Amino acid sequence: MSVAIRPARVEDVDDMRALINGYAAEDRMLERSRDFLIEHLRDFVVAEGSSGFLGCCSLAVLTPDLAEVRSLAVRPEASGRGIGRQLVLACVAEARRLGLRRVFALTLSPQFFERCGFVLTSLGRLPEKSASECPVCPKRFACDEHAMLLHLDGTVPEPLAASEPVGYTRLFLGVEPGGRSAP
Ligand SMILES: CC(C)(COP(=O)(O)OP(=O)(O)OC[C@H]1O[C@@H](n2cnc3c(N)ncnc32)[C@H](O)[C@@H]1OP(=O)(O)O)[C@@H](O)C(=O)NCCC(=O)NCCS
Repeated sequence: MSVAIRPARVEDVDDMRALINGYAAEDRMLERSRDFLIEHLRDFVVAEGSSGFLGCCSLAVLTPDLAEVRSLAVRPEASGRGIGRQLVLACVAEARRLGLRRVFALTLSPQFFERCGFVLTSLGRLPEKSASECPVCPKRFACDEHAMLLHLDGTVPEPLAASEPVGYTRLFLGVEPGGRSAP
């Protein structure tokens, strides 16, 4: 099955919203409103096959140095065919074109991002994200996401220390996502 990755258009928004919010209802990603998707439409790419819309992904530029891969979703019936990786690599190529140096993702699927070349890091090493957006995230008191980082200049991010907290809740609120006090 041939799959094209292309910039998103207004006509894709209903499919993007249904797919993203279907996974959000299962707590697998953050929900997005129609207004949000319209406002950020130029950040999105979609995957399209002969049967139509198969998935989407966005690249949000946070600083002159750093961008975030967000809202990655592939239709369940199209999974396991390399479409997720193609979507992420399209966003990485766009980050490169823009002259950015680092791309990260917060995810419940860290192994998937490893397969795309990202390495595990700590949100503490991404203060541009953790200081501005995490404090208002609905998951801030129970953050179970892994921060995955890719350097575009060919260097490898410093490995995570064994004792280094990964998620926002333990790192900044001093509690485990389940509510216990962190040691
Ligand atoms: C995660 C998701 C985007 C993967 O899309 P996909 O098209 O099935 O993935 P791909 O076929 O491109 O997989 C690329 C590689 O990652 C691996 N992989 C895919 N999903 C994985 C997962 N959940 N955990 C571990 N590895 C995974 C594949 O086996 C493949 O490995 P390979 O390099 O050995 O071939 C898709 O399953 C999805 O939409 N999940 C629900 C929403 C979600 O979790 N989004 C991510 C939020 S950041």
